[in-house]
Amino acid sequence: MTLLEQIKEKAKVKAKTIVLPEGTEERTIQAVPTLVREKLAHPILLGDPAAVKGLADKLGVDLSGAEIVNPTEAPYFDDFVQAFYEMRKDKGMTPDKAKDLMADPLYFGSMMVKTGKADGEVAGAENTTGDVLRPALQIIKTAPGISAVSGAFIMIVPNCPYGDNGVFVFADCAVTPNPTAEQMAEFAKASVGTAVDLCGMKEPKIGMLSFSTKGSASHELVDKVVKATEIAKAKFPELAVDGEFQADAALVPKVGASKAPGSPVAGQCNILIFPDLQAGNIGYKLVQRLAGAEAIGPILQGIGKPVNDLSRGCSVEDIVNVVAMTAVRA
Ligand code: ACO
Repeated sequence: MTLLEQIKEKAKVKAKTIVLPEGTEERTIQAVPTLVREKLAHPILLGDPAAVKGLADKLGVDLSGAEIVNPTEAPYFDDFVQAFYEMRKDKGMTPDKAKDLMADPLYFGSMMVKTGKADGEVAGAENTTGDVLRPALQIIKTAPGISAVSGAFIMIVPNCPYGDNGVFVFADCAVTPNPTAEQMAEFAKASVGTAVDLCGMKEPKIGMLSFSTKGSASHELVDKVVKATEIAKAKFPELAVDGEFQADAALVPKVGASKAPGSPVAGQCNILIFPDLQAGNIGYKLVQRLAGAEAIGPILQGIGKPVNDLSRGCSVEDIVNVVAMTAVRA
């Protein structure tokens, strides 16, 4: 069974409700029949039912089994507005502004997840990452003990002897532009959850990446990764984590043994934590394009309840896969 097939099997068992705020987006509508037929999730589409159904008819898509909710017509719309106003009044929110924002399906969808009306949310087929994340961060917020959300990619690299038989988790590739050392340590912890829950990894081994291995270079950028490694080890003693590593020392057993002798994970890492978002985002795209890897994500980690972002270039199949992953994390 492939990794995606395993994720779908887990999603079926969970039978979760996932809200899709982009209810009038073509690929989102086209994903619904597969979600329902394969019982991957119970989908809720947000939008004016006439517009959603009209587009579905035009596309020849049968929406039976999906719920359609028009945010402003929902019986709990006013409660959502009030709760959102209360949540943010100290930050300058007014009742009128709260009402306007809650009419936006991305805000409404996040509030559905916050209040338990949905177990998770998937959006981003027609909205930017920032626009999907902002309401989720404001309303759902981070999980207890976590200060920053990160976005992981599961990388499935063909014909690759490294990592977990060519499977890796890379983070952060999508969210926090310049994480602190503490936040990098949190990304390491959160990535283990992704590796175990979604990839079924038995022995997650984390490499904290830099352009230096164990003191081979000195620079303040390296200092951050050294500190992040120390914090990860102290705060999460259960983790198999080490660094600072150059990528080859993290991945290749021979290089790991020569550059970081005695390290418990050098040369065997299957989770790579990047020092900042530029490195992480560039890194996953290089592996995806140059090594022909499958890149599944971004999977949002450290958020209070599961919300996942899609690429605006996503396919219908991508939406189905991300909904299944979201259901598994719910
Ligand atoms: N983790 C947790 N909470 C956060 C984070 C974070 N990384 N960043 C912001 N927040 C919180 C803030 O504390 C704030 O909460 P509050 O209003 O309750 O105090 C709320 O989110 C909004 O924060 P802002 O600073 O107003 O929002 P901002 O406009 O900075 O947006 C965002 C935050 C969306 C995460 C931004 O940093 C961003 O756009 N990141 C990069 C996304 C991106 O472009 N990724 C690359 C493309 S994705 C890809 O290639 C797969």
